[in-house]
Amino acid sequence: MKILVTGGAGYIGSHVVNALGECGHDIIVFDNLSTGHKWAVLCGKLEVGDLEDSSHLYDVMNAFRPDAVIHFAASIQVEESVRKPLKYYRNNVANTLNLLDAMDRNAVRNFIYSSSAAVYGIPDTLLLDEAVPLHPINPYGASKAMVETVLGDMTKTGDLRYIALRYFNVAGADPQARVGQAYLDATHLITRALKTAQGDFAKLCIFGTDYPTPDGTCIRDYIHVVDLANAHLLALDYLMETKKSDIMNCGYGRGFSVREVVAAARKVTGINFTVEEAPRRAGDPPRLVADSTRLRSITGWQPRHDDLEFIIRTAWKWELKLKQRKRQP
Ligand code: UFG
Repeated sequence: MKILVTGGAGYIGSHVVNALGECGHDIIVFDNLSTGHKWAVLCGKLEVGDLEDSSHLYDVMNAFRPDAVIHFAASIQVEESVRKPLKYYRNNVANTLNLLDAMDRNAVRNFIYSSSAAVYGIPDTLLLDEAVPLHPINPYGASKAMVETVLGDMTKTGDLRYIALRYFNVAGADPQARVGQAYLDATHLITRALKTAQGDFAKLCIFGTDYPTPDGTCIRDYIHVVDLANAHLLALDYLMETKKSDIMNCGYGRGFSVREVVAAARKVTGINFTVEEAPRRAGDPPRLVADSTRLRSITGWQPRHDDLEFIIRTAWKWELKLKQRKRQP
């Protein structure tokens, strides 16, 4: 299949591109390299471009004629979205509309969308399935929910079929450390903890210790990026075969608190890095844990890396490699 992948030079995108390439698909990565990297595109062709540039996007799509588009390009930091809402609505909503428009004008009908657990806000159920109402509490989650609304409406016209994958907390790296997370300003818990272990930061702050959770810190469902990449391949196959649109949660169904992640990171690295309790971070829901029954039953997805220590081990291997690379001239 011919697949156009926006944001394919980024963290999750690069893992999916790798998996698609290993299955023999023909890929164009469309990425502005704002947070992605040329070296992360291990398969297919990289087209450096911005989703804001509608005519470039149209031309690339017109020349390539993809069977499907997988859309990763987005801004993804919850806390930043609270400070810079316009950035999130522009990057995540307006630019996605540009993409959908370019698809429509080129009669590209199949779309895999990176949505997020952040669409749920502060749910009152412990395990979240797709029927839980969407009440995002930050602009990031709201931007993802808005696009889901657009997709739902477009589907009704018969011009588009899509699968929205709602990611929970994606972490870890390719076990061979060929690609991994490499943002300039890492804010995610596991990456931040490992960079603290490496000495890049003096301490790791625990944002909020007074949440209504057993140890007072936020609980998240950490999913290994390779399992998530595999979910994309299965979702794409399902979409192409059945032509049915759907929404699926991607997580393991098990939550870990910030303190539990810190303990696991200390154990894996063998480094007792400094941790400090700090006030809550804006926009953080106390608990997000997936019920991924739908993904499993519909696509046959079976996670292979449902193990927090394995997730952290692969992330650690990647961090050590990144550090080594930076030391090289
Ligand atoms: N945290 C800390 N210290 C840090 C970093 C994070 O205590 O230095 C805490 C956060 O406050 C939060 C938890 O660790 O409670 C996880 O935070 P992350 O920044 O790792 O991830 P988020 O849950 O904020 O968001 C991530 C993605 C979103 C996605 C969401 C889904 O960035 O895109 O998971 O659950 F929507």
